[in-house]
Amino acid sequence: MPADLLTLARQAAAKAHAPYSRFQVGCALETEAGGMFQGCNVENASYGLTICAERAAIFQAVAAEGGGMRVRRLAVVCPGHEFPPCGACRQVIAEFSLPGGATEVTFLQNGRAVTRTAAELLPEAFGLG
Ligand code: THU
Repeated sequence: MPADLLTLARQAAAKAHAPYSRFQVGCALETEAGGMFQGCNVENASYGLTICAERAAIFQAVAAEGGGMRVRRLAVVCPGHEFPPCGACRQVIAEFSLPGGATEVTFLQNGRAVTRTAAELLPEAFGLG
């Protein structure tokens, strides 16, 4: 997999607006319907208004495919740094994950691509039941 998604995520990272943290984060995802979307983090002088790359990509996908959109797989990268999606993004990934939280999420760890399911990243995600 994820070679192509990681490449797309790196391309998206180059577009980030991150003058405050200098963390240029990029995300790429493939939807269940086969759509491909990218997102980058967009920071703001009022720090709390910042949006992460993962949520930017997911919201692009929803805008294009509607609220029934489901993420088949997603990759996130930040050149010079390594981290999995933050807690807020895990909750949003859970909202649009495949049944059972089967969506595959790839990120870098110790220089290697690691893939976890959405359910592994956020067990017992909040939902209205
Ligand atoms: N960031 C993301 O884009 N995704 C994450 O999962 C974690 C953090 C961004 C937000 C902020 O612009 C910068 O990285 C530093 O926190």
